[in-house]
Amino acid sequence: MSRVIEVRDLWKIYPGGTRALRGVNLTVERGEFIGVMGPSGSGKSTLLHILGGLDKPTKGRVMVFKNDIGSMSEDELALFRRSRIAYIFQFYYLLEDFTVIENLTIIGRLLGMNDPEKKATRLLEFLRLSHRLNHRPGQLSGGEQQRVAIGRALMGEPALILADEPTGNVDHEEGERIFELFKKLNEEQGITFLVATHNPDLKKFFTRIINLRDGELVE
Ligand SMILES: Nc1ncnc2c1ncn2[C@@H]1O[C@H](COP(=O)(O)OP(=O)(O)OP(=O)(O)O)[C@@H](O)[C@H]1O
Ligand SMILES: [Mg+2]
Repeated sequence: MSRVIEVRDLWKIYPGGTRALRGVNLTVERGEFIGVMGPSGSGKSTLLHILGGLDKPTKGRVMVFKNDIGSMSEDELALFRRSRIAYIFQFYYLLEDFTVIENLTIIGRLLGMNDPEKKATRLLEFLRLSHRLNHRPGQLSGGEQQRVAIGRALMGEPALILADEPTGNVDHEEGERIFELFKKLNEEQGITFLVATHNPDLKKFFTRIINLRDGELVE
């Protein structure tokens, strides 16, 4: 197995003094499908942000694909974020001035993909968005926007997907379908997943669950 993530004594103290992460240790191997669980405010999003290079640790060592997140410059972090990591976050960050299909094909073009329209169309069909291809994100429901964000995350060929309540805004049946797809990608392509969720129904999909309480990992 190869190591995807290695976290040692990670602390995150926000300006103002909130201790969102307090000495977290975590090792993740390639191909794991991990559920990150814990009450609201326990540090799940903070952990995912730091692993994705979107925020910096206050203290501790965070290695992702052999990159030391804490010691990278802003430019290095920007490159790192575009590498082999995909994000599905609570706030979708869709490009508001572009249509649904463009939100996906832009990523494909950035990555030098041959025929991004083909892959984008296929993904959006799976996500039941074929009737929304030429809408803009502002014209979609919350659940539809979330599905676009999932499609966008799957456009590239990520080795690691960090997802924060990825199905929090879709109905139960749709959520199950999306997790079946994640599981398939995990098993067939070895994509490693870290998924923060409150939803106990999703436990069955995870190969391992880590629990956060007040910024600490508990058994
Ligand atoms: N940008 C920020 N500045 C200051 N404090 C923050 C910031 N982001 C989060 N916090 C605080 O850090 C703690 C952990 O927040 P975090 O968002 O990681 O929790 P969470 O487990 O993702 O919660 P939820 O389940 O509600 O999404 C909370 O006390 C929160 O108020
Ligand atoms: Mg959160």
